[in-house]
Order: sequence, then C-alpha cells, then structure tokens
Amino acid sequence: MDTKIYKISSPDDKSIEEVACLLKDGKLVAIPTETVYGLAANALDGETVKKIFKAKGRPSDNPLIVHISDFSQWKPLVKEIPEKAKRLTEKFWPGPLTIILPKSDVIPSEVSGGLSTVAVRMPSDEIARAIIKAAGVPLAAPSANLSGKPSPTSSKHVIDDMEGKIDAIVDAGECSVGVESTVISLAVNPPRLLRPGGITPEMLTSVLGEIEIDDAVFNKLAENAEAASPGMKYKHYSPDAKVVIIKGDFSEYKSFVEKEAKEKDVALCFEEDKGKLPFIKCVTYGKEKDSFSQAARIFDALREIDEIRAETAFARFPEMTGMGLAVFNRLIRAAGFNIVEV
Ligand code: TXA
Ligand code: MG
Repeated sequence: MDTKIYKISSPDDKSIEEVACLLKDGKLVAIPTETVYGLAANALDGETVKKIFKAKGRPSDNPLIVHISDFSQWKPLVKEIPEKAKRLTEKFWPGPLTIILPKSDVIPSEVSGGLSTVAVRMPSDEIARAIIKAAGVPLAAPSANLSGKPSPTSSKHVIDDMEGKIDAIVDAGECSVGVESTVISLAVNPPRLLRPGGITPEMLTSVLGEIEIDDAVFNKLAENAEAASPGMKYKHYSPDAKVVIIKGDFSEYKSFVEKEAKEKDVALCFEEDKGKLPFIKCVTYGKEKDSFSQAARIFDALREIDEIRAETAFARFPEMTGMGLAVFNRLIRAAGFNIVEV
C-alpha cells in the first residue's frame, strides 16, 4: 500500500479536509496528538476499526480509545455522564486524560474489545481536534506503533513502523507530552487509575477525592490475574535491547555500570550524567529533576537504543511522583520489570 504523507503545521491547513475525507471513507490515518501519534479510524464503523488491529498486530481483545473534538460528541457514546466525569473534564479536557464509562450501543464491540465500557478522550492538540471535527465522527485511535514497540512521538517513528501498512500519515513534528494519556475508570467506585500519564494522581485526587491506583501501574501482573485494562497484560514498549533499571544514586550507578558494561552496551541516563560516563555510550532521557523532560524523551530514547544496536541499556531510576510515575511505568515495562538495587 502506498502511504500518503501530509505535512501539517496548523489547524487551518487546507489538507485537513483531505485527511478528513480519507477517514470518512473508511481509511486508516496516523494523526498527531499532544501525547503520542495515534492510528485513527472512524470509531463507529467496526469493519474499519478491524483494520487498525491488523496494521498494528494488536490482539483484538485490547480496546481502543475514542477521540472527540467537542463535548457534545461524548454523550451518545456512553450510558450516562456522571457528576465526577463532568468535574474531571471541566478541569482537564481538552488534554491527556482518558475516561472509561459504561458504553452505549453505538460503540462497536471491535472498539471496546468486547467489554461493556468505552474509553474516551478529547486531545488538546489543535491539529488532532481539527481533524476529528472535519471528519465529523469520533475517531478510535491506539498509539500508532507496531504492537509491543515504544509509542511514536515523532512522524519518523510512525513512518518507521507504519509506512506501507496504512493509508496516510499526518506529519506535525514532535508530540509535546511524549507519553500516552492518563487512563482512569469511572465505571468502578472509587475511581481507578489504570495508566499514569500527563494528568497526575495528585491532579486527579484534587478533583475526585479518593482514587485507587491499580497495582499493575507499579508491578507485573500475576500470571493468572485478570487485567482491569487489557493493555496491562501485553508486552509493552520493548526495544530489542535488554533494558535494566539501576536503583541507586549517580555514583552507585556509575560504579555498577563501569564494572558490568560490555562493548555494545549503553547508558540510558540523564543529560547531566553524560559527561561523567566516559567509558560508555550515553543515550539520554531528559534532566534528572525534570519528569516532564523525561516523558518527552523516553520513547525516542528507547528507539535510539535499537538504532545503535545496543545489547543492554543500563537505565537510571526516574522519580516516581507526579509526571515521574508515568515515566517509571513505561520504563519498567520496557525493562520487563528488571530492576537492580545497588
Ligand atoms: O495518549 C493516548 O492515550 C494515545 C493517543 C493516540 O491518544 N492513545 C493510546 O492508545 O495510548 P492505546 O490503545 O495505545 O492505549 C489504550 C489503553 C490500552 O492499555 C487499553 O487496554 C486501555 O487503554 N483501554 C482502552 N479501553 C479500555 C476499557 N474500556 N477498559 C479498560 N482499559 C481500556
Ligand atoms: Mg499503545
């Protein structure tokens, strides 16, 4: 398949109409959002949505997030919009927050992965919203990577994974947040955080009061446990290289890596560390005390590790509060939960 590339830098760009026509016509288009690029299709058309799973190699029981551009598009997708959902969206939509509620009948089972709930979000990226608006339908969109690979935060990542497999890619540069949206379920009480992201647990509790954080946010799901979110049980963000997270301060990290590293290994470290590790190649993921810069870099860094064909990447341990929880959550999955305490 020939994949058309549209370079778009503003929500007023004339090509948005053309992209919207493709989507109306049942085609698959990768679109930018503030979090990561999404692989979009008409969310109300189950047959079209099936093609998303095929292009990504995604298991069909892993449900998709439905993207809207306007509050009025939400109501028809769900059974009802509870008070808590209204309060959350007043504060955090448009933005990197996905809300799960019992679904209505217009959501095809392909989108919900057979579940009785649906995940919805309104992205803050203006090009994304302009595309949804012009398409005139909500768009189902998982991250636009091959299943299991790090999520795409630039058009290059999308092209690397999806060229030849989908109808079009909108190239709008780099995503600002860099990790996928926060996913919270309001289909249970108390509300349950299923995936940490740009809207932090502290921000959620400031609006909702008590929330529960699903154990799978921190830990590997037990062999036979049922996943609250099907995405939790699948392998994620894994580069071909082996990733090991080293828990310790910089000097402990340095001594460990100096002793263990072989020729083809790399340090997945912070910018400040770079000049202090002369014995190993460094791939950096943001600044030590700045979780936002780490989030913006983590997926690109994981892809870079494979581009240079590293064998093992020794990662520094990120902070686990605020936005750092989202970074930690992605990194432990990339590492297959392999943490060494030094
Ligand atoms: O930032 C994002 O959320 C990006 C951009 C493109 O918007 N999208 C994204 O989609 O990350 P995806 O498919 O890669 O991740 C969606 C996650 C999966 O782990 C899935 O299992 C979970 O959300 N999910 C979706 N619908 C669900 C539902 N009804 N119940 C529980 N989990 C659900
Ligand atoms: Mg994904």
